[in-house]
Amino acid sequence: MNESRVLSGMRPTGRLHLGHYHGVLQNWLALQNEYDSYFFVADYHALTTHYADKIDLESNVMEMVVDWLAAGINPKTTTIFVQSKVPEHAELHLLLSMSTPLRWLERIPSYKDQQFKLKTKDLSTYGFLGYPLLQSADILIYKAHLVPIGEDQMPHVELTREVARRFNYIYGREAGFEEKAEVAISKMGKKQAKSYRSLRKTYQEMGNGEALIKAKALLQQQQNLTLSDQERLSGYIEGGGKIILPEPEALLTKAAKMPGLDGQKMSKSYKNTISLRDTEPEIENKIKRMPTDPARVKITDPGNPEKCPVWQLHQVYSDKMTCDWVVAGCSSAKIGCVECKQPVIKAIKSELAPMQECVAKYQSDPELVKQIIFEGSKKARNVAKETMAEVREAMKIGY
Ligand code: TRP
Ligand code: SF4
Repeated sequence: MNESRVLSGMRPTGRLHLGHYHGVLQNWLALQNEYDSYFFVADYHALTTHYADKIDLESNVMEMVVDWLAAGINPKTTTIFVQSKVPEHAELHLLLSMSTPLRWLERIPSYKDQQFKLKTKDLSTYGFLGYPLLQSADILIYKAHLVPIGEDQMPHVELTREVARRFNYIYGREAGFEEKAEVAISKMGKKQAKSYRSLRKTYQEMGNGEALIKAKALLQQQQNLTLSDQERLSGYIEGGGKIILPEPEALLTKAAKMPGLDGQKMSKSYKNTISLRDTEPEIENKIKRMPTDPARVKITDPGNPEKCPVWQLHQVYSDKMTCDWVVAGCSSAKIGCVECKQPVIKAIKSELAPMQECVAKYQSDPELVKQIIFEGSKKARNVAKETMAEVREAMKIGY
């Protein structure tokens, strides 16, 4: 497994649908096998927009985590946790707020967009303005390397990088930095120290990015160095001070636009979803009621799959042979829409059946789910506490 840490969060919206599964969860499933993964329920984030709504956060959290588990997120290898159970997120948010210029937050597109879209809510609040910074704290507190997100979240990861850079610039300049860095190099042993120095020189003289990557990899392998020394030497390569909060990279999830029942993107607000927990009759009914190419009034009228939302589902679920069958049959009126929908119904049923078996298992044992959240949150909190100790130290409130 790769040492790199992946972190992502989801707001607690309760039960998930196929759009979440194809858009986010499948991506998480692939990542959890490759990286040290942290996935969390962003319940503080929910309050930034729903602070006045009486939503049952606890049940939304539980239902969503059940769906994660049923989809295959593995609590044995992946850290699953709830944001508010790691209150250090709030502390880091506060401390980062000290050095974050207001204009950095005001210019984030979602700030104005959401205020406009959610007109019924008063979002001219301190919490809502600060929510991207809370997201920065979520990421930085775990020193995450990779943050899988959708396009809309890109500005938040950009902000996080700027916030980290500024933090390191202001607080990473400890007294005697160079001397401490030199002492740390001498702990590496002759040969390793020599490679470090030469990589640092190459990077500093020629801005060679590969040298930077190699030097950082070299540092990661050093058993004789404390984490603090590793960070010092990592900062020493780039010339500045100690890197306390490393800058994360966004891992853009390609917009797997799962079509909804009406051909628009699947979303609760469009009421066009198939829930991961829909029963077989519900799935059948929903697909049967789906609109098709309006040109196909009678079964003998030929149609055009490009004008049909069912075709979009075939593109998600069907193999090439089935897709060819649809195109040929639709445009020559050799198949009817009812027939055309059958393979989709079958595919969705067989995709959901194993998940639903798993849901049943967790639903009958809510204590098990609570235990998983408890353990994951404890583990996450230990990592968060370590970062906070360094942050407090750097900000001179570690006393
Ligand atoms: N803001 C994200 C969303 O609305 C959720 C989120 C919160 C998140 N904190 C995060 C995602 C940290 C990635 C990393 O979808
Ligand atoms: Fe849509 Fe299939 Fe009917 Fe063509 S045959 S209109 S693709 S459902």
